[in-house]
Amino acid sequence: MVHRKTATRKRKRRRVIRSRPPHLLTCSSRSIGTAHLFTCSPAHLFRGKAAAPPGGRAEIRLVLGDCIHGLSCLDAKSVDAVVTSPPYNAGKDYNTYDDSVPRDEYLAWTREWGQAVVRVLSNRGSFFLNIGGKPSDPWVAFDVLSVFRDLLVLQNVIHWVKSIAIERQDLPVRRRTDPSNPLAAGESVTFGHYQPINAERYLNACHEYVFHFTRRGNVPLDRLAVGVPYQDKSNVNRWTIGAKDVRCRGNTWFIPYETIQNRDKDRPHPATFPVKLPEMCLKLHGLSRIHLAMDPFLGLGSTAVACANLGVAFVGFEIDKKYMTESCRRVAEALKKKMPRS
Ligand SMILES: C[S@@+](CC[C@H](N)C(=O)[O-])C[C@H]1O[C@@H](n2cnc3c(N)ncnc32)[C@H](O)[C@@H]1O
Repeated sequence: MVHRKTATRKRKRRRVIRSRPPHLLTCSSRSIGTAHLFTCSPAHLFRGKAAAPPGGRAEIRLVLGDCIHGLSCLDAKSVDAVVTSPPYNAGKDYNTYDDSVPRDEYLAWTREWGQAVVRVLSNRGSFFLNIGGKPSDPWVAFDVLSVFRDLLVLQNVIHWVKSIAIERQDLPVRRRTDPSNPLAAGESVTFGHYQPINAERYLNACHEYVFHFTRRGNVPLDRLAVGVPYQDKSNVNRWTIGAKDVRCRGNTWFIPYETIQNRDKDRPHPATFPVKLPEMCLKLHGLSRIHLAMDPFLGLGSTAVACANLGVAFVGFEIDKKYMTESCRRVAEALKKKMPRS
């Protein structure tokens, strides 16, 4: 009974929020270091091409409001890279958003915002869609994927690994005996964090997907920008491309969450990704090819922070004021770190 009551109340709230046009938390615009934290009226926000040249002075634009409405105000094909993680319909306890609506309603909404994203994606743009699920509902990622099947081409599937256990016996012999290698001391080591599940029938969920979509499936990528050194150094000279001792990382990306002490204080949101994830997506697309990046579901603004760190112009949307406040704080902090020291 309690659940139903809560769900009804939340569903009601969600409708109200979604019908509200975007507005901004503050009406100010200020320069911080080499970048520019930009919050102003929607009229200012959406006119013309937003971006400064990559690597130069980049504007980070954070909009409080519904992304579908907000995206309709952006110019068509004006966004070169989208990195986002929508709600997964997995019953997460968001501050206002109801994350447990009927699946068909959720997928119809996914199509709606998906079409809005496709409209603003540039011809050579990349759309990185992070989605997980929960062990009792592993279909959600594939249901969402199928929504995009007739909208875009699935160019790559990346596996974001949050935690992994590596056994000593699976290491190459020289690593097993290397005293500086922490693995050499024990039988197995687990890296990263995950939410443990108390159920005999399910495995702990240690990974999520990042689906990489493009319009035609032929967007060249800067694979070496997120590359890794060769394990066998004889490859460095054998392959011309390996001359710099860097090879393609492949599609399994181990990116652990930062260890936090206090969830409410350090990460007040139930479903964020680490800033490194959008950073790697943006670099993979190629920073010099991004005039504007976008995230329709800001949450705590991890993609905005990644853009602030990389000097990439950005616009993002979030319906929840509490999360938006935290986004602004995190972006301001990232921008301050980029300020030249006097
Ligand atoms: C999975 S979270 C995104 C987390 C983000 N990637 C991060 O690292 O912080 C999804 C977010 O979408 C927001 N949201 C839900 N519906 C929205 C809408 N119609 N427009 C904008 N934001 C929305 C939710 O409040 C939630 O914060």
